[in-house]
Amino acid sequence: MVWKRTISSKALEKAKFAPVKVEDKVIFIAKINDTFYGIDAVCTHARCILTQLDEEKMTVRCPCHYAVFDLRTGNMLEPPYVAPDAPKEKLGLKTYQVRDNNGWIEVDV
Ligand code: FES
Repeated sequence: MVWKRTISSKALEKAKFAPVKVEDKVIFIAKINDTFYGIDAVCTHARCILTQLDEEKMTVRCPCHYAVFDLRTGNMLEPPYVAPDAPKEKLGLKTYQVRDNNGWIEVDV
């Protein structure tokens, strides 16, 4: 495990979610009901940054062509509207463990 510091816990508490740069990656982190989530923030379709969280559905939507990913598993649940036949099983995103360590949000990369 290699934990990398990202943003403060207070910042995530206030924002609820954030795409953060960790080394050469951008990771979408969120805190929902006291549980942390981390998922690659770069869409597998055409590399837009994921920015739209649906807390109730536990999903993240891409703002470019509206693909929807499961925040917990990284699986693509809905394909991009411009590529409805995209192979969803091949377009999933990597997920990461996220923790609070003394007031800082860390991601295991
Ligand atoms: S870039 Fe995300 S759905 Fe197209």
